[in-house]
Amino acid sequence: MKLLVTGGAGYIGSVTSRLLLDAGHEVVVLDNLSYGFREAVAPGATFVEADIADAASVLTPDAGFDAVLHFAGLIQAGESMTRPEIYWDHNVRRSLALLDAVRAAGVPRLVFSSTAAVYGNPTELPITESATKAPTNTYGATKLTFDLALTSEAYAHRLAAVSLRYFNVAGALIREDGTAVGERHDPETHLIPIALQVAAGKREKLQLFGDDYPTVDGTCVRDYIHVQDLARAHLLALDAAAPGEHKIYNLGNGNGFSNRQVVEAAREVTGAELPVEVAPRRDGDPATLVASSQRARDELGWVPEKHTLPDMIGDAWEFYRTHVA
Ligand SMILES: NC(=O)c1ccc[n+]([C@@H]2O[C@H](COP(=O)([O-])OP(=O)(O)OC[C@H]3O[C@@H](n4cnc5c(N)ncnc54)[C@H](O)[C@@H]3O)[C@@H](O)[C@H]2O)c1
Repeated sequence: MKLLVTGGAGYIGSVTSRLLLDAGHEVVVLDNLSYGFREAVAPGATFVEADIADAASVLTPDAGFDAVLHFAGLIQAGESMTRPEIYWDHNVRRSLALLDAVRAAGVPRLVFSSTAAVYGNPTELPITESATKAPTNTYGATKLTFDLALTSEAYAHRLAAVSLRYFNVAGALIREDGTAVGERHDPETHLIPIALQVAAGKREKLQLFGDDYPTVDGTCVRDYIHVQDLARAHLLALDAAAPGEHKIYNLGNGNGFSNRQVVEAAREVTGAELPVEVAPRRDGDPATLVASSQRARDELGWVPEKHTLPDMIGDAWEFYRTHVA
């Protein structure tokens, strides 16, 4: 297939692009490089430096794209509460412009990077796709809005749409030739890369927000998914997409790890001491977020292969040590 990958210079888009190329697809990456890196774009992909708002210049009716994989967006939940307007702009307004271009060009399929944040505080565990959607931050609200736009687009215009709702993504793609692609967010807000920054001496300590939650050790429990398992799900989603349907899948392991368990595993992988400071709880942080990915397993045949913390942190550390530190 000929595929447009928005956000393909970012973490998940750059890993997925490589697996798409490996599978024999033609990949065009569109990214404005606001948070991505030119060198992260997969060799073998055509790169267009542009904003998704201007995607129509690439997605012309004659270009013959078979699908769009839409990763581009703003991703910081905390920032979305202090600068909500830029989240509505990128994740909704500009994404709707992309959807207009998809429709005008007659592109038949679209796979969207949605998020666990659409659910907010869970009323049931594990969280299924039919759970109540009540985002507790603007980031989640903007992602849910685009999900809803896809539902109506599929209904009205027969788009084959798939939303993949990722839980916490971790790990890196390590290639046999020694190259690697992984997580490089700035600012970094995710626990595993922050732990690696401490291990590499780039930060003094780690903060754990709250240790009095009703969990195994009092710290929050989150569901981590390896970025390679996540990327594979996109290939399966492309195959499963069906005209006029909006399919929605949670992607996680169904196993939660507490923040302290993550820190302990990071200590073992890196051999570093990793000093920890317990800070007050953050507003809106649920105690436990764990996905049911049963639907993805049943309908897509997706089976996560790298589901242990040493798998994920080991690959992330390999990438960080060799390409970032
Ligand atoms: N990382 C996670 O744990 C996680 C969890 C759930 C969902 N997601 C979703 O997955 C997607 C990818 O996340 P990521 O971690 O790879 O983020 P990332 O910041 O590494 O990548 C996003 C890319 O999009 C680009 N971009 C942003 N706005 C753009 C615009 N208007 N036009 C063109 N390019 C633009 C950035 O330059 C960047 O390269 C996001 O949509 C995010 O909401 C991520």
